[in-house]
Amino acid sequence: MTGRATIIGTGSYLPKYILTNKELEKIVRTSDEWITTRTGIRSRRIAGPGEETSKMATRAAISAMEMAGITALELDMIIVGTITAEMVMPSCACLVQKEIGAETAFAFDVSAACSGFVYALEIADRYLKNAPDMKILVIGAETLSSRVDWQDRNTCVLFGDGAGACVVSGSKSDAGMLASQLYSDGRLWQLLSLDAAPRRYCPAVDYGAVPERNKFCDGSAFNMVGKDVFKHAVREMGNAVENLLEREGITLDDVSLLIPHQANIRILKSLAERVNLPFKKVYTTIQKYGNSSAASLPAALDEANREGRLQKGDLLLFSVFGGGFTWGVVLWRW
Ligand code: UT7
Repeated sequence: MTGRATIIGTGSYLPKYILTNKELEKIVRTSDEWITTRTGIRSRRIAGPGEETSKMATRAAISAMEMAGITALELDMIIVGTITAEMVMPSCACLVQKEIGAETAFAFDVSAACSGFVYALEIADRYLKNAPDMKILVIGAETLSSRVDWQDRNTCVLFGDGAGACVVSGSKSDAGMLASQLYSDGRLWQLLSLDAAPRRYCPAVDYGAVPERNKFCDGSAFNMVGKDVFKHAVREMGNAVENLLEREGITLDDVSLLIPHQANIRILKSLAERVNLPFKKVYTTIQKYGNSSAASLPAALDEANREGRLQKGDLLLFSVFGGGFTWGVVLWRW
């Protein structure tokens, strides 16, 4: 067994409630046409009662463990990438540990916004270098709807909720994480930020009563300079992909699929164009789920996996960008 992280199971959970653009038209001054053409988003999932971040993370984790064929007692470590855990302490990861009964694991959260899952995956890979037998649950989970200002059309149309998870362990073959590079630039934090939660927890409200959430979240919603975030995202993700491939001596022809953070379909098209990758090689779920931050990539990975889009030996790229700024890229052999 090598010390390279390989994925032995994937899982995801998406909330049941589907908020369409048409419904959003009743909440803020927007239109289905504007949202679709500017973002590619047609609907997003909104968490309701019983779908708090840790609960969705738990369901995604159970599904990933089922696919991996392991029990919770075999887990050594749980890492959750999230910026919308329902509590600051304990961590979301500890709540997941409790829910699944992973008594012998240690657990913690990673705060890297939309890049949280890839940051967590990289940490798992580093642990596996020393202890390839470890079994590690890596999760991205978010309830962004609880922190969105539903009167701010610049942001509220973009975000959705969900969770995705992977069980990773040391690779017995040449599959797994081949290379990665993470980046941050805290100087640009004001372009995309979210204040600390003003309350212990922004409670989910009944399905269909989304604007009610403002009562609980006043003054602590997203701040975003959309156009600047857009430009930085395309440039930095593009540079990161190009630099990693050059370093590893790989060309984009060798890459089967890019699974990116799902921020905006135009960002993904611009990225593909910039690095010269045919858009059919970019896996997208943003149309259905919107931007679910750290959850978007692992949930997309699980969907691609269950659809049979990933063949043994395929070279995959994971590319992320989010608040901080944080960003990163991973080269993975399936
Ligand atoms: O994970 C990272 C998180 N964030 C992102 O990835 C966001 C990156 N940025 C973007 O995706 C895009 O910048 C947005 C989708 C947020 C905005 O698209 P844009 O093409 O940059 O539009 P804009 O901000 O320049 O706004 C154009 C117009 C403005 O009206 P005026 O000033 O031209 O009259 C906005 O007020 O569109 C207006 N607008 C809207 N109209 C209808 C902004 N939001 C909406 C809306 N519905 N929801």
